[in-house]
Amino acid sequence: MDAGLDLVEEAVAVGGRELIVRRPRDSEALLDEAAFERDEFLPYWAELWPSALALARAVGARALRGTRVVELGCGLGLPAIAAAAAGGRVLATDWSPDAVAFAAGNARRNGVEIETAVVSWTEPGPLLERAPWPLVLGSDLLYEARNVPVLLELLPALVGERGEAWIADPGRAPAERFLAAAAERFAIRSTPDPAGPRVRVHRLTPR
Ligand SMILES: C[S@@+](CC[C@H](N)C(=O)[O-])C[C@H]1O[C@@H](n2cnc3c(N)ncnc32)[C@H](O)[C@@H]1O
Repeated sequence: MDAGLDLVEEAVAVGGRELIVRRPRDSEALLDEAAFERDEFLPYWAELWPSALALARAVGARALRGTRVVELGCGLGLPAIAAAAAGGRVLATDWSPDAVAFAAGNARRNGVEIETAVVSWTEPGPLLERAPWPLVLGSDLLYEARNVPVLLELLPALVGERGEAWIADPGRAPAERFLAAAAERFAIRSTPDPAGPRVRVHRLTPR
């Protein structure tokens, strides 16, 4: 989908190295009325959200040494790339084929290998087939109320009894509701991002 799009590249410091993220300059230019009518689909994937940076930095600080990792709603793919750079075997997923294409291109640009797949949380078969996942990543996924019940059901199935989910969020109301409900099944440790304390990384481990 790069053809004809105005693109920009950003350099971000993650885990002691500089990662390059290419993205459309103006995500609003990608609005597609038909897709919005169908799924209320908005091209949020095309922005690099502060939560992605926070999650990438948290992941980049950990040695993953072959750990299987899946990122949900990967957008441009920064946390997935940070996880691959930290030694993880990473699958980056999103329901937007354009997002997945950008994530794959960004991984190549940074010299790391990731696998990618177009998967929606409402049809998660390809993710469940490969569960349990030792580490599930997601940044800024809980921006709409409809995502709360879907992820409350999906995450326990993905992490199984021993995995963990790291979810970064800038304090959105649906995320707070998600965390309150998730606390029944998970122990949750939340840490503020040193670069912007409104963003926190929540580490969920099954009780
Ligand atoms: C706010 S954006 C965050 C993107 C990226 N994680 C970041 O933080 O920069 C939310 C992402 O979730 C994806 N998404 C939303 N609903 C989804 C669904 N039902 N299944 C899979 N991905 C979804 C969007 O396409 C988008 O990439």
